[in-house]
Amino acid sequence: MLVLAVCSLKGGVGKTSVTLGLASGAHARGLRTLVVDLDPQGDVTTGLAVAEEPSTTLADALEDPRAKVVRSAVVPSGWSWRGADGAQVPLDVLTGGPALAARERPDASEKALLALSRALAKAEGYELVLLDCPPHLGALTRSGLAASDRALIVAEPGLFAVNAADRALGAVHDVRGSLNPRLQPLGVVVNRFRSSLAEHRYRVEELQSMFGPLVLSPVLPERSVLQRAQGATVPIHEYPGGRDLARAFDAILDRALRAPHGR
Ligand SMILES: Nc1ncnc2c1ncn2[C@@H]1O[C@H](COP(=O)(O)OP(=O)(O)OP(=O)(O)O)[C@@H](O)[C@H]1O
Ligand SMILES: [Mg+2]
Repeated sequence: MLVLAVCSLKGGVGKTSVTLGLASGAHARGLRTLVVDLDPQGDVTTGLAVAEEPSTTLADALEDPRAKVVRSAVVPSGWSWRGADGAQVPLDVLTGGPALAARERPDASEKALLALSRALAKAEGYELVLLDCPPHLGALTRSGLAASDRALIVAEPGLFAVNAADRALGAVHDVRGSLNPRLQPLGVVVNRFRSSLAEHRYRVEELQSMFGPLVLSPVLPERSVLQRAQGATVPIHEYPGGRDLARAFDAILDRALRAPHGR
């Protein structure tokens, strides 16, 4: 099982979109996948067309990470029954929601920060676990990093997002040195890239000079089809016109699955 946190210390750069794109790619290749919604906004739960949110949620599983509590917070996504060959491909969601906000405490104990790691140890049978993190370095993002093998940092090609990517890599380094020695950065993915904009090209070069091979290739282009697919809650791999984005997500997924991870 590979646990991959998708994070950035900046809002609106595309964490949820990248999580959904990777979930779509994992679904298309038939990987047993669990998506964990660590953001109280609940966007990835919405994007995965969860029909009915359970009364037990991730907030309960973090409070009491026993197997039966974790299992009752997991629901099938609305994508689960759409395997290309008609086969059932489980794509499940550990639903988040507003109750998670109460765990966003600055004084969170080490036990609280490790609760997600303990909860995921009870979520058996998945090959891939994707964590959609909230946009800041609070207890939820740190508990996500503490539970992960790899962290994927999402950055837009703009000054502020470049700074945030730098801070996010620093946070990965800190968590590796404290809560989770197995954590490694998978890389920085540039999202919403527009090749016609000199500013975007400049910022990608800047990211490459700062982070070298950690900047993933290809970059993810800005495409309205992504918003249409999200609006229809359909995987980008199944949405007409989504092929170039789907290929880019496949390349990131290949890299994530290729990288050694110790479970
Ligand atoms: N490559 C892209 N092309 C077009 N639109 C995009 C792209 N990536 C993201 N978006 C759009 O940008 C908006 C913000 O994206 P998203 O919600 O994924 O960001 P986020 O980092 O998860 O935000 P938050 O910090 O609030 O969790 C959404 O409307 C999404 O559809
Ligand atoms: Mg989000």
